[in-house]
Amino acid sequence: MSDSPRKILVTSALPYVNGSPHMGHLVEYIQTDIWVRFQKLRGHHCIYVCASDSHGTPIMLKARELGITPEELTSGYTKEFVRDFDDFGVEFDNYYTTHSPENEALVGQMFEALRASGDIFTRTIKQSYDEKEGMFLPDRFVKGTCPRCKSEDQYGDACEVCGATYTPEDLIDPVSVLSGTTPVKRESEHYFFKLSEYEERLRDWMQVAKLDKNVVAKLDEWFEAGLQDWDISRDAPYFGFRIPGTDDKYFYVWLDAPVGYMASFKNLCDRTDGLDFDDYWGADAEAELYHFIGKDIMYFHTLFWPAVLTGAGFRTPTSVYAHGFLTVDGQKMSKSRGTFIKARTYLDNLNPEFLRYYYAAKLGPTIEDIDLNLEDFIARVNSDLVGKLVNIASRCAGFINKRFDGKLANELQDEDLFYESFAKASEQIAAHYEAREFSKAMRLIMGLADVANQYIDTWKPWVLAKEDDKQELVQLVCTQGINMFRSLMVYLSPVIPAVAKDAQAFLNEESWQWRDASSPLLGATLPKFKPLLTRVEADQVQRVVEQSKESTPVAETEKDDDFISIDDFMNVDLRIARIEKAEPVEGADKLLALTLDVGDSQRQVFAGIKAAYTPDSLVGRHVIVVANLAPRKMRFGISEGMVLAAGPGGEDIFLLSPDDGAKPGMRVK
Ligand code: MSP
Ligand code: ZN
Repeated sequence: MSDSPRKILVTSALPYVNGSPHMGHLVEYIQTDIWVRFQKLRGHHCIYVCASDSHGTPIMLKARELGITPEELTSGYTKEFVRDFDDFGVEFDNYYTTHSPENEALVGQMFEALRASGDIFTRTIKQSYDEKEGMFLPDRFVKGTCPRCKSEDQYGDACEVCGATYTPEDLIDPVSVLSGTTPVKRESEHYFFKLSEYEERLRDWMQVAKLDKNVVAKLDEWFEAGLQDWDISRDAPYFGFRIPGTDDKYFYVWLDAPVGYMASFKNLCDRTDGLDFDDYWGADAEAELYHFIGKDIMYFHTLFWPAVLTGAGFRTPTSVYAHGFLTVDGQKMSKSRGTFIKARTYLDNLNPEFLRYYYAAKLGPTIEDIDLNLEDFIARVNSDLVGKLVNIASRCAGFINKRFDGKLANELQDEDLFYESFAKASEQIAAHYEAREFSKAMRLIMGLADVANQYIDTWKPWVLAKEDDKQELVQLVCTQGINMFRSLMVYLSPVIPAVAKDAQAFLNEESWQWRDASSPLLGATLPKFKPLLTRVEADQVQRVVEQSKESTPVAETEKDDDFISIDDFMNVDLRIARIEKAEPVEGADKLLALTLDVGDSQRQVFAGIKAAYTPDSLVGRHVIVVANLAPRKMRFGISEGMVLAAGPGGEDIFLLSPDDGAKPGMRVK
């Protein structure tokens, strides 16, 4: 490495702390952590900060729902994030919160600077207001019928059916998601940031920021559409920072969230000698600044953020690195399929290093989505990490331990092989890491692991060991093998830091630098070898999936919390039905086919209650049925609803029945 150490500040997006960390989040934090560890290994001065994003309406409302304060809610989830990050080896130099005095001071300071430079103006706008709840409603908190295609139950910002975008005011029959009442329109004064004035400067920034071409394409689209001035205020009640000089206006969460990057760094500076805030954030700062983010929050990071920084007199990011979204087995994570996997559920069953490696093997520098294919995960981890990598060490260590008192030879058996392949690959692998081409780096490294295994296969130390006059050769071959393993571990240490630590212990070394991969370890004495990794078994992964189903409602919902809204509940059409007919189903041990009178029509429903009820005992009985469940095709016919029952199943299942007087077709409230 020739160049002098760089000063680099790196961030990951600040997670909302109103739910638990999941596998999707981890894509980002693992990606960033690998990059940061790589920079540190190369000898650069790299600092990685993050924080909890603790403000905004969803956090306020969730806390309210749970009957706790937003501070309690966010500090509870922050503990989960911190613990899970730690267990996944994501190592921040500082992890803080946006709800901090440093952040409040910085946001206030930036707001004043923007106001002084004429970038802030106020305008009165009309917005949906929930009179029952006494608050203005964000777009997503209003639902109604799409003005274009007339689909019901669409959010206030866009129609999921026809793709139309609009404001909540355009919805037909709008209702508040919070109270179910019809919102009224109410006026309020808001603060705006003149984003439209920044187009030229943002275009210039985009040129120097070396953004991925897909990100550039997005930006071009946005420039094409014209930049809109940005509403940076929200009315009380709101959980956030009050705007100085107002009683009841708050900064919108997305104004103070990125400032949280600065505040977390400031907090670190205040307790670190020689670390100067302005060296990293001042208008002329020479340090590099990179934000790792998901593709869903590009607008905030590539338009608002650089513009706000510029206007307030700070530096702009060196670059913004956006990644794609995680799918599991090719689909969006889903609670019902058990693929909405929380970080903790994974940790309860599997080695975190495996996920780090798998993500690295899949990640590139683009915003393409990445897929966690569970079968492929098992196969790849077992074949690459266990089969190829760790195997190199275990094939050689025993001989060194037993025959040579743990001592490595003083020279390499094949210098050319070592320097030509393992040392020489160094800069190419480094270039891939630097460019976030992690999958390419992994491929190169695993190619070298193949070379090492072939080398051992060629020399067969287990055969040589049997011949008295070949002992020196055994030591040479195993020293060579162990050095190949060591180089690979240095290269992989940003990805699998815990395995690398164990490997270091096995090699009796304290720490590694990138260049150690190119200078062999000779003549050293090694302690006894302990296996570094064990295979993943399919049932471990199966357990993760099962536990992910258990910990969450069975209903198909893509929301990332454990609650459904009152609105979700109201969408379930529960009705009284009378059982007209009940019959066994041929070929099904547990099912009865029920013919139900639901008032205006008859339905056929299959119910797993055969062990608990005889068909005759059911006829004439009133039950409760989910009437708007999508019909399901079963082997025996179509089931058009679901009958509600309680109990664990088998004989212990109890149909829910209404009291006398209930009539078929009545809605259950
Ligand atoms: N609080 C904002 C970020 C503020 S940054 C100043 C936020 N939080 S988040 O918790 O929703 O997401 C945090 C990061 O995780 C984002 O970069 C987001 O893109 C990423 N991911 C969340 N779910 C993800 C997947 N399913 N897949 C990949 N990344 C995902 O956005
Ligand atoms: Zn529509």
